[in-house]
Amino acid sequence: MHEGTRTALVTGGARGIGVEICRQLADRGLRVLVAARKREAAAEVCGRIGPAAVPLALDVSSAASVVEAVDEALGRFGTIDVLVNNAGVSLDGTRTALDLDEDALRATLETNLLGAWRLSEAVVPGMVRARYGRVVNVTSSYGSLSLMNSGRHPAYRVSKTALNALTRMLAAEVAGTGVLVNSADPGWTRSGMGGESAPRGPGEGADTPVWLATLPEGDGTTGGLFADRRPLPW
Ligand SMILES: NC(=O)c1ccc[n+]([C@@H]2O[C@H](COP(=O)([O-])OP(=O)(O)OC[C@H]3O[C@@H](n4cnc5c(N)ncnc54)[C@H](OP(=O)(O)O)[C@@H]3O)[C@@H](O)[C@H]2O)c1
Repeated sequence: MHEGTRTALVTGGARGIGVEICRQLADRGLRVLVAARKREAAAEVCGRIGPAAVPLALDVSSAASVVEAVDEALGRFGTIDVLVNNAGVSLDGTRTALDLDEDALRATLETNLLGAWRLSEAVVPGMVRARYGRVVNVTSSYGSLSLMNSGRHPAYRVSKTALNALTRMLAAEVAGTGVLVNSADPGWTRSGMGGESAPRGPGEGADTPVWLATLPEGDGTTGGLFADRRPLPW
């Protein structure tokens, strides 16, 4: 890695779409912190990606783990220039809005919303000081209010709608600082969450998040929601 190499942190980087986000960022010349709850799982993925990938232990549902992981990353590499909040859970696929599992809602928000929020609070101030940053919140069309025509997966949907609100707030708060914040929908993708019958592979699912994570210097794309590199209605 040469001096000036940008460092990216990808949550949930050791499985599913996250692995491909890590691989594609490394292919574009970034150093990639592959974050997973189990460091060994992250290390195994890093071995497959190559020397640009570095394992990091991180449970986004734990505030202490977020602080520890970000401290470790900043201690080793000085800055985190790109943050991809990819970690996510879907815990209530069989439920509907009139049959809410409150525990599932709380657990889903803990990871899908608060996890991304904690990471953003820990990382974005450093990006603002450095006058450069890219934050990508990996969301879902299930979180789009204008496309919400079903009550299925209620906790998951609400968590992604709320994550999109975080994207809008953060983008507004850091506007003009060189930090760009966007939401990316990977589309229905084969993974632990998407299952085996999904039409797209993880490489395709990773494309829009990686595009937003590597927007060029001077690009003004921020506060948006994208799928297949095109705007998706909120
Ligand atoms: N697949 C789809 O069709 C689809 C569609 C739309 C949106 N998405 C979104 O895409 C993202 C990636 O999903 P995927 O399809 O790749 O799912 P996946 O294969 O089930 O992987 C989920 C990832 O989230 C991580 N994770 C879960 N809880 C975590 C926690 N508390 N702390 C840290 N990491 C945690 C897992 O890490 P561990 O390895 O540590 O368990 C794993 O890497 C999610 O945000 C999901 O909502 C997926």
